[in-house]
Amino acid sequence: MRLSIPTFILISFSLLSIHSTAQPTLGFRCTTATTCNSLIDYKLPNATTLPAIANLFDIKNLRSLVAANNLPATTNPQTYQLNASTTLRIPFPCLCRNGTGISNRRPVYTVVSDDGLFHIAAEVFSGLVTYQQIQTVNNIPDADKIFVGQKLWVPLPCSCDDVDGAAALHYGHLVAAGSTVGGIAEEFNTTESRLLELNGMSNPGDLKADSILDVPLKVCKTTVRNDSMDYPLLVPNGTYTFTANGCVRCQCDAANNWILNCMPSGISLRTSCSSTQCPGTSFDLGNTTSDSGCSLSRCAYGGYRNNTIYTEVTKESTCASPGGTNNNNSNGNGSKVLRWSFVVSASLIALHLLGL
Ligand SMILES: *[C@@H]1O[C@H](CO)[C@@H](O)[C@H](O)[C@H]1NC(C)=O
Ligand SMILES: *[C@@H]1O[C@H](CO)[C@@H](O)[C@H](O)[C@H]1NC(C)=O
Ligand SMILES: *[C@@H]1O[C@H](CO)[C@@H](O)[C@H](O)[C@H]1NC(C)=O
Ligand SMILES: *[C@@H]1O[C@H](CO)[C@@H](O)[C@H](O)[C@H]1NC(C)=O
Ligand SMILES: *[C@@H]1O[C@H](CO)[C@@H](O)[C@H](O)[C@H]1NC(C)=O
Ligand SMILES: *[C@@H]1O[C@H](CO)[C@@H](O)[C@H](O)[C@H]1NC(C)=O
Ligand SMILES: *[C@@H]1O[C@H](CO)[C@@H](O)[C@H](O)[C@H]1NC(C)=O
Ligand SMILES: *[C@@H]1O[C@H](CO)[C@@H](O)[C@H](O)[C@H]1NC(C)=O
Ligand SMILES: *[C@@H]1O[C@H](CO)[C@@H](O)[C@H](O)[C@H]1NC(C)=O
Ligand SMILES: *[C@@H]1O[C@H](CO)[C@@H](O)[C@H](O)[C@H]1NC(C)=O
Repeated sequence: MRLSIPTFILISFSLLSIHSTAQPTLGFRCTTATTCNSLIDYKLPNATTLPAIANLFDIKNLRSLVAANNLPATTNPQTYQLNASTTLRIPFPCLCRNGTGISNRRPVYTVVSDDGLFHIAAEVFSGLVTYQQIQTVNNIPDADKIFVGQKLWVPLPCSCDDVDGAAALHYGHLVAAGSTVGGIAEEFNTTESRLLELNGMSNPGDLKADSILDVPLKVCKTTVRNDSMDYPLLVPNGTYTFTANGCVRCQCDAANNWILNCMPSGISLRTSCSSTQCPGTSFDLGNTTSDSGCSLSRCAYGGYRNNTIYTEVTKESTCASPGGTNNNNSNGNGSKVLRWSFVVSASLIALHLLGL
């Protein structure tokens, strides 16, 4: 039996809708299978404290929440008061798989009495995820059936993809009412076309208030080894972060030629810190010395594994070109990404043909 063309379209359309209700889109586009650190905006539903937020998002080191928001390092996180509707930046680990990036099995939310999936998604997590996304990643057959004490993985959107051939931190930016794609691009030093492409938008007019936009932030160069537990350590300009179980503090300043400046933090998380001295020298992490001419030696951070912190002496040119560049644009304009979306459309069409 032959199907008429309208029937074909009707069937394809209904298959597509079944497909999309069963599998809501997760995360940001991420084409590399890897992990990295990420950031997302969270608008506080009520007045609260940093420890309460750290608890909600499973952040073990309160200082990393202070750092992600660029609050002074002297801030006492226990007593710092936050007003309702303040927007905080939440640091979290990202996992990329199957073309999308979502938070790496964290945060985990524990269901309390009278909770519903919609309330958890829309209110507790301020709409950073939809209830369908929580339902999907936790394999919950019926959204109305969750139980007190149930642990739910909340899949925050993220990505670890390079941008313009350079590492970038994909910041989940909460779109304020009245903002424009061009305005956001200018604020975060990227371009409108880059934002449209990363977010799969064809038209700047499609921007919706209160949605989360993938905004790539340029990060400092690092010497972190690829077998380090914090590889690739992504630190954007003008921010700092704690790593190596809180033992190391790293700061990114574009004015320092985009070189990450790491030093002992002077505080540790649970564990005591291993030596941060550069092997065979009297240099500690972060110490620099001017060599002759245009050269500077630095005891740089090389990452960590278990309780071992790696360090190495690196050389930098102090007669660097103004502004500094770690951004090699030779890989530009996102051709990889375009090919990927082509594969997706092609396989969706194939699915429909098989379905018929
Ligand atoms: C919270 O609100 C109070 C009073 O409106 C204000 O003084 C304070 O600066 C606000 N704190 C923050 C972190 O926004
Ligand atoms: C996602 O990737 C995993 C492992 O790479 C695979 O087992 C799984 O089937 C994939 N899921 C989808 C929906 O493609
Ligand atoms: C404020 O919001 C947090 C996070 O959603 C929640 O855990 C807490 O119970 C709320 N507090 C009040 C007083 O509503
Ligand atoms: C954007 O980047 C340019 C050059 O890379 C720099 O001069 C400028 O200060 C940056 N602006 C912001 C807001 O980061
Ligand atoms: C990690 O780095 C080493 C040497 O620096 C290199 O040989 C290896 O291919 C890298 N591995 C990956 C997965 O990039
Ligand atoms: C880096 O951040 C500082 C603020 O911390 C800003 O003044 C500067 O313009 C930024 N530079 C670049 C190149 O983005
Ligand atoms: C070396 O680094 C340590 C730790 O940051 C610091 O206390 C010390 O003053 C530095 N020494 C020199 C000579 O810069
Ligand atoms: C790190 O610890 C794990 C188990 O905790 C162990 O299997 C592994 O060999 C250790 N790695 C290093 C480099 O010490
Ligand atoms: C940029 O990459 C190209 C090819 O990948 C290389 O030839 C060139 O030297 C690189 N430039 C910089 C400044 O790293
Ligand atoms: C950018 O795209 C254009 C046309 O799509 C192509 O000709 C050009 O080679 C690309 N540039 C890079 C750096 O990939």
